[in-house]
Amino acid sequence: ANPEQAQLLKIHAEATKLYHHVLVNTPAGKLALQYLTQRGMTVDLINQFELGYAPDLGADKQILHEYAQKAGFDYQLLRKSGLFVERHDGQLRDRFHGRVMYPIKDSHGQVIAFSGRIFGKKASANTPKYLNSPETDIFNKRRTLFNLNLAREAAREVGHLTLFEGFMDVISAYGAGVKTGIASMGTSFTSEQVQIIARQVKQLNIAYDGDEAGQAAIDRALKLVEDTAPNLNLRVVQLPAGLDPDEYVQKYGAIKFQDYMEHREETPVDFRLSYLRNGLNLKKQSDLIAYLKAALQVIRVIPDPLGQSVYLKKLATEFGLDQGSLERQLAELPQPQVVTPPPIEDNGEIPHGFDPPP
Ligand code: GTP
Ligand code: MN
Ligand code: MN
Ligand code: MN
Ligand code: MN
Repeated sequence: ANPEQAQLLKIHAEATKLYHHVLVNTPAGKLALQYLTQRGMTVDLINQFELGYAPDLGADKQILHEYAQKAGFDYQLLRKSGLFVERHDGQLRDRFHGRVMYPIKDSHGQVIAFSGRIFGKKASANTPKYLNSPETDIFNKRRTLFNLNLAREAAREVGHLTLFEGFMDVISAYGAGVKTGIASMGTSFTSEQVQIIARQVKQLNIAYDGDEAGQAAIDRALKLVEDTAPNLNLRVVQLPAGLDPDEYVQKYGAIKFQDYMEHREETPVDFRLSYLRNGLNLKKQSDLIAYLKAALQVIRVIPDPLGQSVYLKKLATEFGLDQGSLERQLAELPQPQVVTPPPIEDNGEIPHGFDPPP
């Protein structure tokens, strides 16, 4: 990191300590602490992830700004930190008010940004549920994966990382013993993040929320990985309808969650074959034919003939069809185009959350 980046890391480290202190040691943090406790967050998890609280002490009290000024941080540096918003007269005010604070760390464990969650009131257009730091010289959203610093250690033992949708999913899973969890910033999963993952592991498990948005996002994520890092093995863990991983842990406990994550993983083909059924009534002949056509398209892309025939057999058995005629149908479909993406550089170095200086 250059000197300015080093200072930006320093103010983030100080802010992390301050927000954490407010959460765990002060009356101002009492309701936030209660909120987290009610959500099943233990003291250990709160400490491990250095969760905090940015209090709302009224318009005149800017707790982080006052602290940063006393600590002697330079005005221009504070402006660039993303931790403040600038008023028209140039005065800086804390960006985060009345939010539970989730420090976002780079792969070395240094805090580079925050996400702040409201609680006890409804989100709206001006008040998003989660508010993230803007991009800065140390925070590039497209390259950042929440919890990669801890998850990559765990991944060394089990051989895969696990992609969740949200920070709370990662933290609850971690507390439940599934320590390989990472999450992208918000809903969009990027090719940069795929490349970072592919440098770390040979397999990625995707475990998004058990709702329609989650399924659609799984479908997009599979495609992105296949296009960006074709050698990265993929598995999908579909959560039960209506639950996200955090809710699963709170409802069924750590052991059941571990068991679920271990035994419910399926291949991308299995996921797609079940995803295609959404909204179809396979007892209706027209829906069944539409499904079979779409299913053959999915099976067509499987690279080895043996794999293809395993899935054809499954289809034939399930719907009482002749496997030979499915095979003939498959042979008539145009061959998929093979696109070779550029190789991923493997220099053994783990990228920082920001581009290193030249
Ligand atoms: P909880 O409600 O705290 O359990 O969060 P969640 O992770 O279950 O949220 P959800 O499934 O709705 O969204 C998944 C992820 O999308 C979150 O963890 C956030 O990273 C992101 N996200 C959700 N809402 C917002 C928002 O209002 N603004 C931004 N920037 N990101 C959001
Ligand atoms: Mn969701
Ligand atoms: Mn969720
Ligand atoms: Mn949730
Ligand atoms: Mn490094």
